[in-house]
Amino acid sequence: NSKKPILPAEFLLGGAISSSQAEGAYDEDGRGLETQDLRYFDYHWNREQRDHHRNVNITTPEFNQAKVTSQTDNYPLRRGIDFYHHYREDIKLLAESGLKIFRTSISWGRIFPNGDETEPNQLGLAYYRDMFKACHDNGMQVFVTILHYSVPVHLVENYGGWQNRKMIDFYVKLAKTLFENIGDLVDYWLPFNEINASRFNPYNGVAIIKDQFANEHDYLQACFQALHHQFVANARTIELGHRLLPHAKFGGMIARFTTYPATCLPADVFKAYTDENIKNYFYTDVEARGSYPYYMVKYFKRNNINILMNSTDKELLKNNTVDFLSFSYYMSMIDTVDIKEYRKTSGNLVSGLKNPYLKTSDWGWQIDPEGLRTSLNEMYDRYQLPLFIAENGIGAYDKVENGKINDDYRIQYISAHLDEIAKAIIDDGVPVIGYTLWGIIDIVSCGTLEMSKRYGIIYVDLDDSGSGTGKRLLKKSYYWMQRVTAGLKG
Ligand code: BG6
Repeated sequence: NSKKPILPAEFLLGGAISSSQAEGAYDEDGRGLETQDLRYFDYHWNREQRDHHRNVNITTPEFNQAKVTSQTDNYPLRRGIDFYHHYREDIKLLAESGLKIFRTSISWGRIFPNGDETEPNQLGLAYYRDMFKACHDNGMQVFVTILHYSVPVHLVENYGGWQNRKMIDFYVKLAKTLFENIGDLVDYWLPFNEINASRFNPYNGVAIIKDQFANEHDYLQACFQALHHQFVANARTIELGHRLLPHAKFGGMIARFTTYPATCLPADVFKAYTDENIKNYFYTDVEARGSYPYYMVKYFKRNNINILMNSTDKELLKNNTVDFLSFSYYMSMIDTVDIKEYRKTSGNLVSGLKNPYLKTSDWGWQIDPEGLRTSLNEMYDRYQLPLFIAENGIGAYDKVENGKINDDYRIQYISAHLDEIAKAIIDDGVPVIGYTLWGIIDIVSCGTLEMSKRYGIIYVDLDDSGSGTGKRLLKKSYYWMQRVTAGLKG
């Protein structure tokens, strides 16, 4: 089929990870404790317990116990894949697969261990400088997420996390420190990972734990207030970044919960439409259009939610919108007014209803490459901004047989998604800058804390208990990726 659209040569095909899922070394070189370090996991748990646990909020006794222990056995995010000590070899391997860009996040606690210091930790800055230099030396561009779900525990305990407006200043101080010390090495910036997912995730330093609130209203009020602080922090970061680094590009990012109506019943169509607004577009509307959209103003009114704003917040949001938009895309979901008719399916942050037309991954995530093309078109039509797919990939059980990993399912998944991106670019005319494959090297799962939920084209020999040599093995998908990237070079 010679007519199949192919990705343009300038397309930035790359890989992504996050600091908390990969680095390990949670207490080395002056790093302070972060919220993700507190997440407990027991590898003896069965599947049901694993699934159950991820839906349980941190409770105060667990939080306190986690804070004082220095064990890593039950805290897989403290170990990661020890990327902290292996980044040079890992980056070299990634570059040798032909990837053109590497996305990772900053560990806030490495730069400001408590989050509210006046002076940064030089060892933390030196680490990221060296890592990003290694990327450039190996021919890869650098894509930095400033905050990917993990904040210094001190900020949660002493200020209440993002519910407190003071967080804005601490965060902007972090951003400024990064701009001044590593800004010359970064090509694309994402101030916040999946800003629409914050309030679903009690661990991420928004520190909003439902049980702490007397009722649903108070909980929602706190969530949206915290979110407002993140929007303001985002705008101030962009304002500062544009001033200090005139060539840098700043993006907004959401977890894209692409939602179809389960049927053509008009009420289902409207339900899916409002889902899209509330779960996805609200966030990108603020970041790209610069104001709270009309449907959220109504939503707040209806739910008696009052966002406290400073007199300059609205102007700040209006004047400091993003240069590009990005999103993670793993699956699509469906919605209906008649929920009892449907079975449930799982997902990373929200679970949805089962779409009878789609197959699922080992973890029950619905695989839908065409939904990516639709999502790209919808996003571009709405904002007319360049797009970047910051995460996509498949978590699967990989088997090592005679030293080889034949992950054909992964090749199929990635290839199908890249084909849809090519169609969006070539056939539909959507400007998509790039794509960073999630968990390009196996890392600890953010949702389930399992190591066995692997996304990488590079295998890491560690299991759910943390045992293993830590050795890196190249999967079949790695060699496949080499051929794809060679094709991109023309
Ligand atoms: C995204 C997060 O929502 O999903 C990542 O940004 C995460 O941190 C990814 O790892 C995949 O989810 P999981 O739960 O399979 O690791």
